[in-house]
Amino acid sequence: MAAARPAPNGSDLAGPVLAWYAAAARELPWRAADASPWAVLVSEIMLQQTPVARVRPAYDAWLQRWPTPSALAADSAGEAVRMWGKLGYPRRALRLHECATVITARFGGAVPDDVAELLTLPGVGAYTARAVASFAFAQRHPVVDTNVRRVVARAVDGQGNAGPPSTARDHAAVEALLPTEPAVAARVGVALMELGALVCTARTPRCPSCPIADRCAWRQAGSPPYAGPTVRPQRFTGTDRQVRGLLMDVLRGSDEPVVRGALDLVWPDAAQRERALAALVADGLVDPLPDGRFALPA
Ligand code: ADE
Repeated sequence: MAAARPAPNGSDLAGPVLAWYAAAARELPWRAADASPWAVLVSEIMLQQTPVARVRPAYDAWLQRWPTPSALAADSAGEAVRMWGKLGYPRRALRLHECATVITARFGGAVPDDVAELLTLPGVGAYTARAVASFAFAQRHPVVDTNVRRVVARAVDGQGNAGPPSTARDHAAVEALLPTEPAVAARVGVALMELGALVCTARTPRCPSCPIADRCAWRQAGSPPYAGPTVRPQRFTGTDRQVRGLLMDVLRGSDEPVVRGALDLVWPDAAQRERALAALVADGLVDPLPDGRFALPA
């Protein structure tokens, strides 16, 4: 009987992945050596639900206007929402504004470098806290997004796709791949992410370009197709999310509060429009004024 091949450890994968990253990674502004911790935090919040190409211009404009947390904290939440533009999921703008306020009030204006402290910031969860600690402060943490989960599922577990997420299990699996030196571990973290984004992609992986194809458990198993349920892309047209976006476009485009009639123009179905507006008010993205008009939050 052939001996089972031991699962790759950090030294198996880290070297080739780092060499590939040095040669093939995209040059992204938040990965520059001089990107501040605030810039890294802004990038990670923007990248949570938005593709890199759309984030780039928004990131540049945001940091140009608010180069520090205290600069943003001095401005209104409404301006943050306006600046968020069409990135989508605009509650992230409110959370980032709250982050800036907390960082200014409680951390002397400096993004904290400790995972436990980062986790106290609004909108910062397990992924974002470790991404900031690792990428901005060169610490050794497992930084696990969907791309990294897929790389590990294939290279280590021999599965075509990752199973259901489990923070503890996912962290342990990635941690086992990281070299001990913190700065190198941080680089391996972003390199695994980039490998998943550019090569080990969900639908058509580019295995001939992969630096670890020779030791990938999935390849060794004959690249069995994924057997689990497929995730259908979310519909957008006609959804409440689309209507909320149209209402936000009107508010962002106006320097003044707007009358209800201006909002009524964006969508024909009154019930759906009301539902969308009520959700925006409940989320704190729209302020209903006593005079009946609507404004971005103060
Ligand atoms: N580099 C660092 N974090 C990233 C992310 N979340 N998406 C793409 N590139 C990144």
